[in-house]
Amino acid sequence: MIDLHTHILPGVDDGAEDLTEALDMARTALANGINVVAATPHFFQIPNWERIQALTAELQQEIDKAGIEVKVIPGSELFIDIEILEMPQNLIPTYAANGKYCLIELPLQQVPMYFEQVVFSLQTKGITPIIAHPERYLAVVRDPNLILQWIDIGCLIQMNSGSILGRFGQKIQETAKILLDHNMVHLLASDGHAVSRRGMNLHKAYVEVEKLIGTEKTMQLVQGNPELIIHGKPLPAAEAQPYQKKERFWFFWRALRKK
Ligand SMILES: [Fe+2]
Repeated sequence: MIDLHTHILPGVDDGAEDLTEALDMARTALANGINVVAATPHFFQIPNWERIQALTAELQQEIDKAGIEVKVIPGSELFIDIEILEMPQNLIPTYAANGKYCLIELPLQQVPMYFEQVVFSLQTKGITPIIAHPERYLAVVRDPNLILQWIDIGCLIQMNSGSILGRFGQKIQETAKILLDHNMVHLLASDGHAVSRRGMNLHKAYVEVEKLIGTEKTMQLVQGNPELIIHGKPLPAAEAQPYQKKERFWFFWRALRKK
C-alpha cells in the first residue's frame, strides 16, 4: 500500500519529533503492508519546497541505513491561502519534484471564498489539487454533496484513515462513510503524526473500507490511485453519485401532526 499523507519528516512540524520517531513510523508502516509513504509536512511550518525535498532525501538515507524497506516521496500539506495565486509553479510543493498533484488543506470551520480561484490557479500551472480530509470540514459534514462540486471543478479527494475509524467522532465517521458509499473519494491516507498519536493506521482503515466498498475499490484508494498520482498520471474516471439525505422519522411525525 502507499500512504500519501504523513508527517514523518522529523522535527519540522507537529509530526515525528526526531529521527528515532520517524524511523519507528517507517517500521510501523512496513510491518503493516505499506512500502511507500509521502512526507507531507505542513508547508506553513517549512515553507521551502527545495528544503523539504532535501530533508526527505536525508530521511530516505537514514531509512536505508536502518534496513527498513520503505520509500519516502517528498510532498507537503499546503494550507489554502490567497498567496498561492502568486506562487510560481516551481515553488509549489507537489508529490515529488515537478509533480502534477498537490495536497491542499482547508480550514475546518469554513471554506474560504477564494477556494475556487486557488484551484483554478493551480490547474493553470498544471497541478491538480487534492483536498486533504474534507470529511473533517464542517461545510462537508453539513452537506456532503459539496464534494461533487469540488470533483466537478477537477479536485481529487483524500480521506483520512482516522475518520473512518471514528477517531474524530461519530459525525465525521458518518460523513466518511457517505463519501465512500457515493464514490466521492480518490485516496485514503493515514495523516500519521507519530506511531501512536494519530498513527500510521492505514491498514486498520483498509479493513473497514473494504467492508463498505469491497476489495477492488479499496485497493484503488490505497494503491492504484496513489501510484498514478506519484507518477503524475491521470486517474481513471469514476462517477461520483449525489447523496440523498434520509429523512428521519420525526420529520414524518411532525408533518403528520400538521395535517
Ligand atoms: Fe496532515
